[in-house]
Formats: sequence, C-alpha cells, structure tokens
Amino acid sequence: MPDIAAREHSSVIFPMLKELGIEKDGSGIDVIAVTAGPGLAPALRIGVELGKVLTWIWKKPLVAVNHLEGHIYSVLINPKPNTQNPKPIFPAICLIVSGGHTELILMKDHGIYELIGMTRDDAAGEAFDKVAKLLGLEYPGGPAISKLAENGNPDAILFPRPMIDSDDFDFSFSGLKTAVKKKTSERSEMSEMYNTADIAASFQQAVVETLVTKTMRAVEKYHPQSVILSGGVSANKFLRTSLEQTLHKQHPVISFYAPDFSLTGDNAIMIAVAGAFRAKQKQFADPLTLVADPNMRLV
Ligand code: KG4
Ligand code: ZN
Repeated sequence: MPDIAAREHSSVIFPMLKELGIEKDGSGIDVIAVTAGPGLAPALRIGVELGKVLTWIWKKPLVAVNHLEGHIYSVLINPKPNTQNPKPIFPAICLIVSGGHTELILMKDHGIYELIGMTRDDAAGEAFDKVAKLLGLEYPGGPAISKLAENGNPDAILFPRPMIDSDDFDFSFSGLKTAVKKKTSERSEMSEMYNTADIAASFQQAVVETLVTKTMRAVEKYHPQSVILSGGVSANKFLRTSLEQTLHKQHPVISFYAPDFSLTGDNAIMIAVAGAFRAKQKQFADPLTLVADPNMRLV
C-alpha cells in the first residue's frame, strides 16, 4: 500500500532526526548517504528528497546507495576481523536474500559487482511470507516459519528443490510455494497427516538446500576469498549454519561473513557504511539530478 508507506515514512523521518540528536546545522556529519533504490517508489522518494534538502542546507556531499549494496556492507559492521593478519575479502560471492531479492553477486572489489544469478519469480523471503500466510502464521513469515520449524521434521515431506540442477545460478521459488499449498489442502482432506511444524521444517529445508547448493556451485566456479550472506533472510539460523558449515567443510580457507542478527533486516547503519565506502572513492551524487529509482540495479 504505497500511500500508507509514504505517509508513515513522512511522519517518522523528521522525528527520527530529532531522536538521533543530530545538530540542527549538521555539525559532526561528513557525508549524507541515502538509499536511492531499489524499493517502493513513494518511500524512496521521501528519503531521497530529504537527503537532497539536508545536503543543500548543511552543505555536505551526498552519496546514493543501492539498498542491496547496503545489505552486503552490513557484514562489515563489527565483523570481528583478525586485525593482526587480516584476510582478503575480495573477490567475494554474495548471496543476498530478502523479501524482494534473491541474488548471487560476484563482488570483485568495493563497488565492483557482477550479477551471476537471481530469482526468476518470488524472492526467498517472499516465499517464506507467502507460505506463512498459507499456514495461518503472522507477517513477516520468515521468523514465524523458522520458529515453528524448530519442532518439525525437515524430512517429513520432500518438497521440490526448484532449479537446483540447472546449469546457471538462477532461482525460482513460486513452484515451491504451490507445492506447499497443495500439501496444506491435502492435509485438511486427510485430517492432519502432516502437522504444520513438519510442513514449515520441510519447506525451510527445501529453500535452504537450494540456496546453499547454488551458492557452493558459484564458489566452485569463481574461487572467491569469502562468501557473504546478507538480507533479511540471513536471520534464518538454519540457513546461516548450513552455508557456513558446508563452506567450512569443503573450503576451510574461504571466510564466511553474515551480519550481526540486529543488522539482518533493513537498517540505516548498513546504508551509512556502504555510503562511507563510496564517499572514500569520491563517488558523490549530484543533488540537482539524483532521483529515486525503484528498479535501481547494482550492476
Ligand atoms: O531485507 P529485508 O528486511 O527487507 C527487504 O529488503 O525485503 O527482508 C525481509 C524478509 C521478509 O521476507 C522476512 O520474512 C524475511 O526477510 N526473514 C526471514 C527471517 N527473518 C526475516 N526469512 C527466513 N527466516 C528468518 N528467520
Ligand atoms: Zn532489505
């Protein structure tokens, strides 16, 4: 509901500046980083216009950040690095899994990306949300399903692993959602043959196995120094541990990064950090021409 999103955005954005204790003249701030896309147009527009106004009145440079780039940089906040002997991060294989995106990206250096795979229909988070709705769980569905799955048998139902054997790095989750729908309607006919926790656990297993298999295949092809998992779905503990353990078992020298649990969902810190890297490279935006781009691409 774009109208409601816009109204909510404009009603919180100024009180937020006040709450953060930002000086009225912007002192203490070096650069203004704003999400320029992708996302919901009215919400993006409010952020971008505020960024431009602040740039104007505070006379600070402006940086336009891609939302997905923000998710990638969320792993560099408190990564507990070995400062004595820091390991190289790049090239990195990034798996970004959120409500709107499921992408495998080869990140060659700061700001240099190559898209190697993406979902052809639903995003992984969207699949969690839709399946949760089918199971009568609350929104957002990801946390609700993963909690329910803790008490279920992941091997109870063999759901499809869409495109797991395709020789590309793309994903497709809408067929999986349809398979769950079929099982849930069978369940009411066959009176509780499977319980809801088993469906949740089996669905989660299918999504995680698909994501891990495809990511590992990208690792085999591109030989990265690290694997970065981020986006709202990276809060899923089963996904995190499966990817980390599989990577560690098959390639112990490759580092694994995932954000702190407090930074998996959308947040402003990740935009600030991604913006700081862009600012270091002097990649500033022109406030006279910057516009929000709901379909902004990373590459
Ligand atoms: O990145 P994000 O906060 O917003 C977007 O950019 O879309 O991601 C939100 C998505 C939602 O679909 C939500 O259900 C999913 O992340 N999510 C999870 C978990 N926590 C959040 N999915 C699976 N397991 C979780 N624990
Ligand atoms: Zn996000």
